[in-house]
Amino acid sequence: VFDSGLGGLCALKELHRILPDADLVYFGDTGRTPYGTRSPETIMKYAAQDARFLLSRNVRAILIACGTVSTVALNALKISLPVPVFGVVSAASREAAMSTKNGKIGVMGTGATISSGVFEHELKLINGSLEVTSVACPLLVPVVEYGFADDEIAYLSVKRSLQPVIDAGADTVILGCTHFPLLIKMLKKAAPHITFVDSGAAAAREIAAAFPDKNGSGAVHCCVSDT
Ligand code: DGL
Repeated sequence: VFDSGLGGLCALKELHRILPDADLVYFGDTGRTPYGTRSPETIMKYAAQDARFLLSRNVRAILIACGTVSTVALNALKISLPVPVFGVVSAASREAAMSTKNGKIGVMGTGATISSGVFEHELKLINGSLEVTSVACPLLVPVVEYGFADDEIAYLSVKRSLQPVIDAGADTVILGCTHFPLLIKMLKKAAPHITFVDSGAAAAREIAAAFPDKNGSGAVHCCVSDT
């Protein structure tokens, strides 16, 4: 499992919950986070290096627990890596399409994720009549990274970021950035009527179903590239 930083730990936690015996390796690129403000070329370069680190640990499959890498670099990694690679887009889009009652779905992500249009494309492939409202939420990543998830500043940032999807009448919102589930308390407070889909957790369930590893030792190794 890898992420640009620590948000992907939410996906790791879900994977460990489902498959307590699987041996898991996590890599968080804390030295170079955030990725969401960078160019596709840089994101692809960093993602390839992150994946190579995991391959050096002999992993059998890779979960990209990062919305930004999943939307920008998934296809390139799938082609170039010798093991199966899973991103967060398809599982989360399926869950959101199943959850919505009014066919209006919001997507919250980093600037790079929203610019890619990948979530919207995937949702339209599932059901062409879905109405999708996508919002770049650059404020929310630093709020989480700096430990303000339970602070009033988080509530104000979440409320501001959610406004376009509330205005569009969405009843389901994909948290397309793996940091955002850490803001779930504030998201529910700001929009109690909305169902939030945790993209990292959805992807963890998808990879767990594909690799139901019950014969490991349950070891979890977490590595970072800086403090
Ligand atoms: N992990 C990133 C994502 O899920 C958020 C942080 C970043 O911008 O690197 O999109």
